[in-house]
Amino acid sequence: MEPIQHAIDSSETARPHFDDRLTLPDDEQLAILAVATAFGAEALDFGRISESQMSEFWSANSRKLRNRALLVALLEAVGQTPTNRYELEYGSWSCPAFREGVSSWSSGGKGEQELALDFCTPNYQFWCPLLEASRLVQIVNPATLPNSGLTVDVGCGDGALLSVVRDQLGVAADQLLGLDISTAAIADLRRKGIPGRVSTLVGALSGKELEAESVRLLLLSYFVDRDNAQRATFESAAKVTLPGGRLVLEGLFPVRAADSLGTQYADQATSVTNGESAADDVLRVVQCLSGFGFQLECLAVGERLVFSLDGFERLSSCLIVMRKL
Ligand SMILES: C[S@@+](CC[C@H](N)C(=O)[O-])C[C@H]1O[C@@H](n2cnc3c(N)ncnc32)[C@H](O)[C@@H]1O
Repeated sequence: MEPIQHAIDSSETARPHFDDRLTLPDDEQLAILAVATAFGAEALDFGRISESQMSEFWSANSRKLRNRALLVALLEAVGQTPTNRYELEYGSWSCPAFREGVSSWSSGGKGEQELALDFCTPNYQFWCPLLEASRLVQIVNPATLPNSGLTVDVGCGDGALLSVVRDQLGVAADQLLGLDISTAAIADLRRKGIPGRVSTLVGALSGKELEAESVRLLLLSYFVDRDNAQRATFESAAKVTLPGGRLVLEGLFPVRAADSLGTQYADQATSVTNGESAADDVLRVVQCLSGFGFQLECLAVGERLVFSLDGFERLSSCLIVMRKL
């Protein structure tokens, strides 16, 4: 199959390229930090992503298949029908059917195994400041959290952040929980020994997933733009968080609830985040959460790297840290 060989060749020779259309200029970052000051909260600047971080991230992911059309065609060829883009991103498609097919796809002398694993395994990967334990501790000083309770990551993907919480902060696995709409992601999470549940497709938290006041640290992890019921999610977040517990929301601001496939996740007009700028959206989230009994503790601005079906991106990253009163 010609396109596969082409994908391999171009991936091997491609020069690192990160789409950076969704980063924020300095003045917009400053406007976000001004919101923190207005609320008497801490303002942190995690800085820009360095060239060496980008190269490292590129090398770790450059040989994966990120040609969406080709991937869909391959899956159709072996009778697989992913139900949403997340199944495509998290699915582990190095299945025997691919390996059988590989020999007829002209592997150009490369071993079948290599081809199957490197090119038929699309994966969502990311790097963000929270994955550095020192940043995570700076954001949520574990010593100031309630002594007991769960750490829950909503939109956890395959559990990169929860793994850091377990391995670097020493939180026992049975005190962790990941929620995601992707069954493939939750399967990966469980393989890492971390409990997880597939959650609803409608909204991110409906209030039924968790017991009231059971959570000491709630991570809403980079999907505020995919949540079609933000207000309900924020209200549920308040219900499930213990007094003194923290909510950490990392997001892409300004929030635009559509993806590159043209899927519209929410009606912008009725979303909490229907502001006119990144800082305006941040302010609206903070006000909404404050109305449900949280208090702004800290805002941090920075950047993150993402590898997905859209390719490589350098994105803005804003962290909103709220303390439950
Ligand atoms: C952009 S990815 C973020 C993944 C990871 N948390 C990160 O920080 O990069 C969005 C994640 O949210 C999940 N997701 C989207 N809508 C969701 C919903 N309604 N409920 C739970 N998870 C959802 C997706 O499956 C995906 O894992």
